[in-house]
Amino acid sequence: MRVLSGIQPTGNLHLGNYLGAIKNWVRMQDECECLFFLADLHALSMPHNPAQLTQSTREMAAALIAAGIDPGKSTLFNQARVPAHAELQWLLNGTARMGWLGRMTQFKDKSGKNREGASIALFAYPVLQAADVLLYRATHVPVGEDQKQHLELARDIAAKFNNDYGVDLFPLPEPYITGAATRVMSLRDGNAKMSKSDPSDGSRINMTDADDVIVQKIRKAKSDADALPSELAGLGGRAEAHNLVNIYAAAADIEPQAVLDQFAGQGFGAFKPALAELLVERLRPIRDRFIALKQDSAAIDQLLRSGAEKAANMAKPTLDAAYRALGLLR
Ligand code: ADP
Ligand code: TRP
Repeated sequence: MRVLSGIQPTGNLHLGNYLGAIKNWVRMQDECECLFFLADLHALSMPHNPAQLTQSTREMAAALIAAGIDPGKSTLFNQARVPAHAELQWLLNGTARMGWLGRMTQFKDKSGKNREGASIALFAYPVLQAADVLLYRATHVPVGEDQKQHLELARDIAAKFNNDYGVDLFPLPEPYITGAATRVMSLRDGNAKMSKSDPSDGSRINMTDADDVIVQKIRKAKSDADALPSELAGLGGRAEAHNLVNIYAAAADIEPQAVLDQFAGQGFGAFKPALAELLVERLRPIRDRFIALKQDSAAIDQLLRSGAEKAANMAKPTLDAAYRALGLLR
């Protein structure tokens, strides 16, 4: 079992990233060999500011360490420092099909009405993601629900490559989507995903939000006028209520049913303060560590550099084998 996952260093880490993905990463590093990286090359798929990207990459590394990723246990690095990612992507571009990429919902969402004006990087984004995973022959990829389609594509690319060139080079990676909050929704709209790119800051809880900001955001979160039910079925058609219960469950490391066992019959007037208190307690130590860590950008750079060196060594045999399979002289 080899675990790998990545996150784009754009914007701040938010509660959706944490509960949907990173909390699982932290747990897995005690159980198996793990690689985690900042997907800075992926950030080129949308318009970006170079100085800001440099800073966000360091900050996202600090945020991951603050959330519990231990560079002593896991290999932590930024993608741009391991050129094998970009190299393998090019090799896989011969295998990936236009039709497969055109069906990706992220591409459709992010390119919007202006498909002709979207970057090649936005279109080819999932091929780079496949390269990220296949380069290390990763078997398990812990992500939130939204990344499932990209991982299915990585499997298709791996299978076609193995088959076309008669090799057994790439194991088919399994998406690992687990926990009570695999898709945390916006606090303002129970049908939209909580996301860094939502223009409304009130829609998400950032891992850097102060205690009183967290309390405010939960108080203002959209809910409904009914009491919490005693069974999960009673949350059907109540997207916002369901989301808040799932957030509570994931943050408390319990099942959603256990949340209902505790709060059935109570309204949001009682539930919201309890949720806010739980989140404040849960996020405060992460935020405090983050603020301390991010002061020392030299130390972060050093950690990322040594992570990249380890990653590059792990990647080399697979990359060499891919060149060989394709008949490329080197
Ligand atoms: P964003 O969508 O906010 O830009 P990323 O795409 O960088 O975040 O996602 C990083 C990780 O966090 C991925 O594994 C992704 O599946 C997970 N993730 C992002 N948003 C959510 C969410 N709202 N709920 C659960 N997981 C999420
Ligand atoms: N596309 C992922 C996201 O937006 C980030 C990512 C890039 C990733 N490469 C990856 C996740 C490889 C898992 C494996 O969340």
